[in-house]
Amino acid sequence: MLLVEKVRLHSRFTPDLHKLTQLICGKLTRQLTQFDGKYPAACSINGHYPLTDNTDWTTGFWSGMTWLAWQMSGDPQFLDHLQNQLPGYGERLRQRHDIETHDLGFLFSLSCVNAWRSTGDPAAREYALQAANLLTARYHPTAQIIQAWGDLNDPQQQGRMIIDCLLNLPLLYWASEQTGDPRYAQLAQRHAGRACDFLVREDYSTFHTFYMNVETGEPVKGTTHQGYADNSCWARGQAWAIYGFALSFSYTGERRFLQAAVETARYFIAHLPDDGVCNWDLQLTAPGTAKDSSAAAIAVCGLLELTRHLSVLDPDHGDFTRQALRIMTQLCDRYFDGENVDGGYLLHAVYNMNKERGVDEYCIWGDYFFFEAVSRLTAPLAKYW
Ligand code: GLY
Repeated sequence: MLLVEKVRLHSRFTPDLHKLTQLICGKLTRQLTQFDGKYPAACSINGHYPLTDNTDWTTGFWSGMTWLAWQMSGDPQFLDHLQNQLPGYGERLRQRHDIETHDLGFLFSLSCVNAWRSTGDPAAREYALQAANLLTARYHPTAQIIQAWGDLNDPQQQGRMIIDCLLNLPLLYWASEQTGDPRYAQLAQRHAGRACDFLVREDYSTFHTFYMNVETGEPVKGTTHQGYADNSCWARGQAWAIYGFALSFSYTGERRFLQAAVETARYFIAHLPDDGVCNWDLQLTAPGTAKDSSAAAIAVCGLLELTRHLSVLDPDHGDFTRQALRIMTQLCDRYFDGENVDGGYLLHAVYNMNKERGVDEYCIWGDYFFFEAVSRLTAPLAKYW
């Protein structure tokens, strides 16, 4: 019996996954032709995605969507398309274009690692390993963190880790598996440990970003970048925490990562509005506050990953499954767009409220994680990161 059939027995999950998959794959097929080798930008403008070359931190999501469409449908055109995107990732590394970032995991796990796992293409493996090497170069050994953004000596950015980085760590775990060199995984595990120590607060809400002193290794302060306030809880950051700690637990077996995933999930769920789709910052509860559907989709994937590591007898197992399906039902019924070929799949995301960028628009990672959530409901044991 499929997971989705089991959970239907004790939930009110109603979307038709078969129909949804057909709509997704049909729209993606049209977009692959219309976009002609270009990538949708990070977010839409007035419902339309500008098209770009392989730049910015987000192109991996588009590649990941083609891979997921192949996973869901078995249609080889999607895998061919991913394969055709790969030289662009190699070119980006050669030109060192926009690689001063921790986002190398988002970029290269979803494109090159997926391609390598599916086709064994040695070039894909090589690009992903190069990206893993670049990511390790951002590690500050005394502070034991991977710096998120910018030059390692930039005083504005030096020693700054961000909660999002947890999703970039699977690239390092994979690199250790591939090369037999434990160093990649060790750095990832230490970074996840520091994130657990300092990005997660005592009440299991999260800071978006946290500065460490790279000379002494001492914690400095937590601040926000995309959240409402330094001491609020940015919804997408909380979703990155749920999913990211669950993934680090799956690779390392370190129990406190599982605990962090469980507790951040409980916090997230406890701060959802009645319809189950989070506001863009969990502290903001006034009716009419903008939603971030992309955070909701990430949380669904995180909750589903988390349940893989919990006993079926654990009450959290049932609760997280029900909550994931409750959120997903809303996303399918009220946020999914299977029509607008210039736009994305998940309406009503927020990229950066503080910069008024991508507010109530599609975001490409919202689309990606929506695809992943649909795929997880039909193929729960596939390897996604
Ligand atoms: N990782 C950047 C963001 O979530 O907007």
